[in-house]
Amino acid sequence: MADVPIQFENPLPPWLNGLLIRNGLGRFEIGARKFDHSFDAFGKLSSWRFWGNESVTFSTKFLQSDSYKASLRSHTIAPYLLFEGVDPPFNEVEKITALIRGIDNMNVNVYRFYNAHHHQYQYVALNDYWKVYDFDPKSLSTVKSINAEVPDGTSDSSLAFLRFLSSAHPLPEMGTTNHFTFVSSVSIVPGLKSKIELIRIKSAMERELVGKWSVDKVPYMHSFSITKNYAIFFASPFYVNVLKMVRYAEPFNCLDWYEDEQTTIYVVELHNGIVHSINTDNVFTMHHINAFEEDEDIVVDISSYMSPDFVKNLQLSILLDPARRNSIDVHPLLKRYHINLRNKTAVFKLFDSSPDIPFASKIDMPTINENYRYGNYCFVYGIVLKKDDIELSRIALVKKDLCNVKGDKQWYVPGHYPVEAWFVQVPGAKEEDDGYLLVPVLDGESRQSYLAIISAKEMKTVNIAYLPTIIPFGLHGKFFEDFI
Ligand SMILES: [Fe+2]
Repeated sequence: MADVPIQFENPLPPWLNGLLIRNGLGRFEIGARKFDHSFDAFGKLSSWRFWGNESVTFSTKFLQSDSYKASLRSHTIAPYLLFEGVDPPFNEVEKITALIRGIDNMNVNVYRFYNAHHHQYQYVALNDYWKVYDFDPKSLSTVKSINAEVPDGTSDSSLAFLRFLSSAHPLPEMGTTNHFTFVSSVSIVPGLKSKIELIRIKSAMERELVGKWSVDKVPYMHSFSITKNYAIFFASPFYVNVLKMVRYAEPFNCLDWYEDEQTTIYVVELHNGIVHSINTDNVFTMHHINAFEEDEDIVVDISSYMSPDFVKNLQLSILLDPARRNSIDVHPLLKRYHINLRNKTAVFKLFDSSPDIPFASKIDMPTINENYRYGNYCFVYGIVLKKDDIELSRIALVKKDLCNVKGDKQWYVPGHYPVEAWFVQVPGAKEEDDGYLLVPVLDGESRQSYLAIISAKEMKTVNIAYLPTIIPFGLHGKFFEDFI
């Protein structure tokens, strides 16, 4: 489906001009085989093009990854490395094939990386892996997979490492068109240490080593933080078990959680690659929210969990069973860490919530006004599942005011299911929350999807446009304001 005009109920602001692209979980089965875990669903891109003249067109397309095309050809889910397994399971030959082929389904996020040589942006679909898929933002057609060379600066044989774990959340480098990401190299040679490398993305193909450090065990990390001078990683004790990886070929089942071990915070100095490590509480996070430097401290906000159980529970068999899905503990807690490199300390505080919205600090899938990234800020917009502590499907979009609980607000419509928002600032805005949230929503009553434009100040819907098709559950996306 491409370039289908959609109608908003009210006039659009004339300045709203750009392209919203989102990635997410598109298809859970092919033929008689289905995925065990929702995170393995084949990636599907959706886009909304705001032309700046009141007209908006909608497109959606499956990412034409090698694994998706091979699966369509074979009328079953083809063997590639997945988060978890498939039902019926891969046989032994298929498991080995999956290990050799590796990860291929980039269904989590979209970015654009500037290519200075060609003076143009390259749009890519990502997962928590080093490989990405290049796609055309206008047609959403898949161009090719990109597996950039890892600039690790050593002569270590790449055969000694499983080197594919990275992040679906690269972060921009202040004042440049570059981004930062990381890559983990899991050693499969006894005695040879694993390592994590901080990488500067100069373009989709051009990567530069910033710093690296050895680890005894490789932690699973989905995101990280950047400030003006530092990169900050929370290495939770959720480690890759190499023997299990080789035996089962299912990354998520090959991670061991150690509930009695501390989390290690690694802080990398961006200008010289020096790495500091500080231990803190046993904590798991999927999403860092924002970070900034304040006096001698590095301040890092994360959406934190007591353990990774929540992620493990997002299996389709659980999500499709109301009793089982409602029994999952889905509530994260917003934590603010103050990291002090001189004292080698990391202490955290929790945030109070407004009595009217007691779940306001239990947000994940965080969004901020990107103009406030790397600075002190007040507002986070996030999703709260099971807002009433009873039903997982009662989903609120919450505005958490980190500066004053009186500013906590929620957007909630019974039977409507919002996903992660994207904040677009009003031109000439004087206040941090002067803008709109663009949020795809599934209307459960009419069984249709729509795009909501929500006032960030009031958390009230100001405009909606129903879509010609249902959008499957979306994960992450971005609005590119200067898209031409
Ligand atoms: Fe994410």
